[in-house]
Amino acid sequence: MNPPQLFSLAGRNALVTGASRGIGRALAEGLAAHGANVVCAARTTADLETLTAAIQAAGGQAKALSMDVGDRDSLPAAAAAAEACFGPIDILVNNAGVNFREPLAEISGEHFDRILSINVAGMLFLTQAVAKGMMTRRSGKIINVGSITTGFGLSNLAVYTLTKGAVGQLTKALATELGRHNIQVNALCPGFIMTPMTNKLWSMPHMQEWGQRRIPLGRIATPADLVGSAVFLASGASDYVTGHSLFVDGGFTAGEPWPIPIGGGNVAPPGEIA
Ligand SMILES: NC(=O)c1ccc[n+]([C@@H]2O[C@H](COP(=O)([O-])OP(=O)(O)OC[C@H]3O[C@@H](n4cnc5c(N)ncnc54)[C@H](OP(=O)(O)O)[C@@H]3O)[C@@H](O)[C@H]2O)c1
Repeated sequence: MNPPQLFSLAGRNALVTGASRGIGRALAEGLAAHGANVVCAARTTADLETLTAAIQAAGGQAKALSMDVGDRDSLPAAAAAAEACFGPIDILVNNAGVNFREPLAEISGEHFDRILSINVAGMLFLTQAVAKGMMTRRSGKIINVGSITTGFGLSNLAVYTLTKGAVGQLTKALATELGRHNIQVNALCPGFIMTPMTNKLWSMPHMQEWGQRRIPLGRIATPADLVGSAVFLASGASDYVTGHSLFVDGGFTAGEPWPIPIGGGNVAPPGEIA
């Protein structure tokens, strides 16, 4: 029996932004492992070359592309350069993103402009450039990387949270606009993932302890935990899914275990509550 091809990305061309490390790197490797030809984009070309060499060594197809998503005017040319690598882009993964953790009183205009230029404007204008060809071909998959904060508040992250909330709404708006062109637009919303952006945070014992207690699945994730959902959203398996924000967060946004008295009035530790 031949294995089903529902999740196969063979022959599809993908562009992944922010592929030089962290989540983007894992998504680029994961899409390539499922057959896609992957254009790996970011600003740090040395890291991209290391990644593309690793993908090729594993039998996949990948090319590196220098791109600054925060430079809005450069994005039409960047999209054209991406299409020159393997051909028209079938799958766009808008993953590049930045974060500054700061309380309201310390938010600077400079940081505000920087986060919005990458997390929101870069996502919108790169999508505009890539979606043009998808509309002509009447086919495309757009995956916008959101966050827990796409649908949930976290303190000292006001600007990041507003950008990731915008990712969720942008995803819905574009899903309604591009649906008639057979383009699916979805958001992939990671929970707490160990990456260069967050390693320092999660190496703090009190943060680890909080995460293990607060996340129903009881652990901080790795970028590899996101690959299955990304492949789903990039493949034919999700052809009737659009405008959706898929939270891959160990259950964080579903709620939390609580020490409710059970049985004879005992307080069960969170992990033991059925
Ligand atoms: N880690 C988490 O827990 C977590 C949770 C929820 C959501 N996310 C989201 O997931 C995405 C990736 O996060 P991460 O944790 O993997 O971050 P990371 O380790 O800091 O990696 C960020 C990536 O984005 C690229 N990038 C940054 N600015 C860019 C720009 N102006 N133009 C092009 N590329 C740029 C970086 O490459 P260069 O510096 O080489 O350009 C790098 O490849 C972000 O959108 C983030 O908000 C992360």
